[in-house]
Amino acid sequence: MAKKPARQYGCTACGAVHAKWAGQCDACQEWNTLEELPVEPLAASSAARAVPGRRVKLEALQGVVQPPPRVRSGIAELDRALGGGLVPASVVLVGGDPGIGKSTLLLQAASRLAEQGERVLYISGEEAVDQIRLRARRLGVEGAKLELAASINVADIIATAEAEADVRVVVIDSIQTMWLETVESAPGTVSQVRACAFELIRSAKRRGFCLILVGHVTKEGALAGPRVLEHMVDAVMYFEGDRGHQFRILRAAKNRYGATDEIGVFAMTDRGLEEVSNPSALFLAERRGNIAGSAVFAGLEGSRPVLLEVQALLSPKGGDGAPRRAVVGWDSGRLAMLLAVLETRCGLKLSGMDVYLNVAGGLKVAEPAADLAVAAALVSAATGVPTSPGAVYFGEVGLSGEIRQVAQADSRLKEAAKLGFTQAVLPRRVARGSAPARPPEGLTLRESGHVSDLVSPDAQGE
Ligand code: TYD
Ligand code: MG
Repeated sequence: MAKKPARQYGCTACGAVHAKWAGQCDACQEWNTLEELPVEPLAASSAARAVPGRRVKLEALQGVVQPPPRVRSGIAELDRALGGGLVPASVVLVGGDPGIGKSTLLLQAASRLAEQGERVLYISGEEAVDQIRLRARRLGVEGAKLELAASINVADIIATAEAEADVRVVVIDSIQTMWLETVESAPGTVSQVRACAFELIRSAKRRGFCLILVGHVTKEGALAGPRVLEHMVDAVMYFEGDRGHQFRILRAAKNRYGATDEIGVFAMTDRGLEEVSNPSALFLAERRGNIAGSAVFAGLEGSRPVLLEVQALLSPKGGDGAPRRAVVGWDSGRLAMLLAVLETRCGLKLSGMDVYLNVAGGLKVAEPAADLAVAAALVSAATGVPTSPGAVYFGEVGLSGEIRQVAQADSRLKEAAKLGFTQAVLPRRVARGSAPARPPEGLTLRESGHVSDLVSPDAQGE
């Protein structure tokens, strides 16, 4: 009764299994790679009908490695964050808060690519074609030969992208609006977002175009946001910044084809995003020169380094009540502790002062590593001596005033060097000789063991 087992053919290049032999594998487009698979007689029970495994070809570790080809977008900051440009058949997820500028960035990038003669499809599930046209006019890119569509139907989008062989880039804005008929849930739900992304990614891999997915980070812990897609895509870029401020950072959180610590910096203007090729200039300009009470903190947001300016202002206490302690972007309990440490361990007179502390840019800092930068800002405000404009600070401060190690000093230093800073004040290494502190180029390290070094920097032994 057992049926004759069906023949199957496997591709030696990509592993796809086909029912019929063909000269070309239609999964990976390789020629002459299909081989008949050995088939065991079918077992009576269908549960045992697993496809038999094949020996995979084992390779030597050494070999010629070709760098992946790149399609440059023409926006240097974007290409830099991507690790040199888009890689054909790769999938990039661009995440960020609503309104941060994702559509603006991608419309600009897509237009640049189209101007270079690449065939680019820009599919929006959020805006009508007219709205995109208006935006393009505002951005001054309306002359680009970009192909637009407003659609949320993934099957239609794939059919459109695959109808032409020369499509190089497909932008989907946003994945949360996309919809697959076969999935019985609303757009934006985890299952719909995953299934849509899966189909689009398969199409990109099959046809070799670059796929750029926009994903909104939702406030509620990014439930159906970019997080559920991170493992499916080749690169994840987060577009960050404060909407009240003009600077934006495009940061690689994952990149199979490049480093994850690359960032691109932009400024949002009334004509779209402008590249900031010298980010330190932007950050230092925001600091308004050499004013006492300001220090730059080399922090980490998750695994990602970020530089922030900490500002402190002291003024003699008004009235009879307790002095004011106003904090924006940091923990007020932590501020109280630092003030006490600075008073008792460094002899600063702060108890008669109102203290205002602000993390510029509207970001919230949760790390104890910010202690040293906050202390530096407070000391600078108390003494009237500005911190060095090229200096960054990081380190945790203990109750006896000692400065403690914090995680990922290297990536903080790298980020500081990347943004043009020249000096880092950081905790003293615990064991000399261990962890060789090799500062990135352009950065000198000033190791410090105690916060009192901030008050009398010349007294510290190098
Ligand atoms: P947008 O790209 O629509 O954000 P997202 O796609 O991430 O939701 O950008 C929205 C904001 O950017 C909006 O508040 C207006 C502002 N903007 C400018 O300041 N200048 C411009 O040229 C454009 C197009 C937008
Ligand atoms: Mg948008």
